[in-house]
Amino acid sequence: MTVRRPRLPAPRGLERGPAVTITVDGTPTTAYVGESVAAALLADGDLSTRTTSGGEPRGLFCGMGVCFDCLVVVDGVPGTRACVTWVREDMEVSRQDGPGFPRGAGDGGAGGDPGRAPAG
Ligand code: FES
Repeated sequence: MTVRRPRLPAPRGLERGPAVTITVDGTPTTAYVGESVAAALLADGDLSTRTTSGGEPRGLFCGMGVCFDCLVVVDGVPGTRACVTWVREDMEVSRQDGPGFPRGAGDGGAGGDPGRAPAG
């Protein structure tokens, strides 16, 4: 379930990068240069980044590129770690279902989860 939340104000002395428009699961949303895809997804209000083959939700765990729990599809490339990928203008992000399909795409795609064996 997505619950849009207002962005927290930037702490005093810090400035956000320029605003860019990315698409998240088909919906345009605003992100800021310097943010990770994970930060943009969190700000978008849905803490999950993917589901396992068994349908269990996964999201950020380590936040530093080690655990591969935050895999998403970026510009058609499945298995992209959201926590170490920076947003840019016109980026298309999809939360990932199973081994590498954009959410809602079913079983017809390619790709895989390079960090883990398929779960369930
Ligand atoms: S949260 Fe662990 S690799 Fe992204």
